[in-house]
Amino acid sequence: MPAKNIDELIALCKRRGFIFQSNEIYGGTQGLYDYGPLGVELKNNLKSSWWKSVVYERDDVEGLDAAILTKSTVLKQSGHEDTFSDPMVDCKSCGERFRADQVPDYCKKEDLTEPRQFNLMFKTNIGPVDDGKTFAYLRPETAQNIFTNFKNVVDSTSRTVPFGIAQMGKAFRNEITLKSFIFRVREFEQMELEFFVHPEDDEKWHKSWVESRVQWWKDQGISENNLELYDVPKDELAHYSKATIDIMYKFPHGLEELEGIANRTDFDLGSHSKKQKELNIHANVLENNESNSKLALQDKNNNWFVPFVIEPSAGVDRGILAILNDAYFVENVDGKERVVLKLKPHLAPIKAAVMPLKKNDEKIVALAKKVKDDLQKLGLGRVLFENSGNIGKNYRRHDEVGTPACITVDFESLDNQTVTVRDRDSMEQERVSLDALSNILQQKIKS
Ligand code: GAP
Repeated sequence: MPAKNIDELIALCKRRGFIFQSNEIYGGTQGLYDYGPLGVELKNNLKSSWWKSVVYERDDVEGLDAAILTKSTVLKQSGHEDTFSDPMVDCKSCGERFRADQVPDYCKKEDLTEPRQFNLMFKTNIGPVDDGKTFAYLRPETAQNIFTNFKNVVDSTSRTVPFGIAQMGKAFRNEITLKSFIFRVREFEQMELEFFVHPEDDEKWHKSWVESRVQWWKDQGISENNLELYDVPKDELAHYSKATIDIMYKFPHGLEELEGIANRTDFDLGSHSKKQKELNIHANVLENNESNSKLALQDKNNNWFVPFVIEPSAGVDRGILAILNDAYFVENVDGKERVVLKLKPHLAPIKAAVMPLKKNDEKIVALAKKVKDDLQKLGLGRVLFENSGNIGKNYRRHDEVGTPACITVDFESLDNQTVTVRDRDSMEQERVSLDALSNILQQKIKS
C-alpha cells in the first residue's frame, strides 16, 4: 500500500532525518526546507545519477558550476526582469496575498484587488556600496549563466553542435503561493542541460531528449503509471519557447510538472549576443548593447549561425518528492505494520548497515567495525556501523529509510568468518562468507 497522503511522507521525512522545515526553532520560514542527514545523501545520490547519465555516459556534454549571484544585465537581457512575474491579488477581508490563479477555497474571494504583476526574483546588493546600480539577483534558474559561459566553454573545449552544457544547483524564486511540502518552494535545486543544436535539427533533438529523460526517471524508480507527458499549448508557453513537453508526475496532491523539456530556439544565445543584426536570429530578442561576445558558431561553409537550445530542466526537490512517494510502502508482516522505502539501491542514503549482535562483546564489535570499514572503502556510498538497540528494531528502522542490506555480525562470524545479509525487500537472510561480501553488496547496489 502506498502513502495515504502527503502527511505520512512529511512525518517520515522529519522522523528519520530526511527533510526539516527551515529555521524550525524560530517558528519556521515558509517555502524553505533543510535536508537532514539522510536527505542530503538521497539528494546527492539523485544528482550524481543525473550527472552520470547526462555528462559521463555521453560524449557530447560538458559540465559547469557557475555563480549564483547574477548581474542584473543578464536577467534584463534574458527577459526575466520584464516577464518573470505572476499576477498577484490581495484579499481585503482576510488580509492575505495570493497568486491570482491560485486563490484557495478558504478565502471567500469577495473583496479581491485587481491583479498586479509581482516579479519573482530575489534582489540583493553586490559590494559595500549600495548605490542602487550595483544590484544583482539570486538566479531564478541555473540556465542563464550556462548561456553567458557559452563562448568560454566552446573556446576551452573546441565543441561544436550538437553539444550540451550541464549544471546543477540552487535557484531562487519568491513564489507568491507555496505548495505541497517541497513541491513549490522559494529556494530549490535544478538539474539543467542546455543542449545546443543546428537550427535545422531542433525538433529531432527535442523528441530524443524527451525520450531519454522519461527513461531516466523510470530508472530512478518512478513507475510509468505515475508519469504523463503534457504538450504545453502555445498560449501557455514561456516567452522563450517554441515548444515544451512537460514530464508530469502524479504527486500526492495531483498531476503536476516534474521536469520541462523546452525548445528555446536561438532566443538565449541571441539575447546575450553582440552584433545581433548580423546573426539572422529567429527569436524576438531584446536589443543588446552591453555584451562583448558573439554567441554564434560557424558552419562547414564558414557561415555564422546561432545554435538552437533544447533544455531538459528538472527540479531536484520535486524529484525527491516523487521518488519518496513512489518508494513508500506500508506492508502487513505477521500482523504488524512495516513501513519500507523501496528506493532504488543507487539512491538509498545508507547502502548497508553493519550491526554486531551483541553490543558489549568486544570481539564481535571489533569484527563488525572492520566489516564496516572494508565495505566503506568500496566507494558505494555511506555504510553505517549500527551499534544501537536490538537487531529486529534496527531492521525496521533501516526498512523505513530504504537501506538495501543489513549485515549482522554474530558469534558464528568469529568462528567461521561469515555474516548474515538481510535483504530490505524480501526480508530474507542469507549467511555469506566475508570474502564474498564486497561482491554481494556491489551487485545489490548496482542492480
Ligand atoms: N530553465 C527553465 C526553467 O527554469 P521551469 O519550468 O520554471 O523552467 C524547471 O523550472 C523545473 O524546476 C520545474 O520542472 C520544477 O521541477 C522545478 N521548479 C520550478 N520552480 C520551482 C519551485 N518554486 N519549487 C520547486 N521546484 C521548482
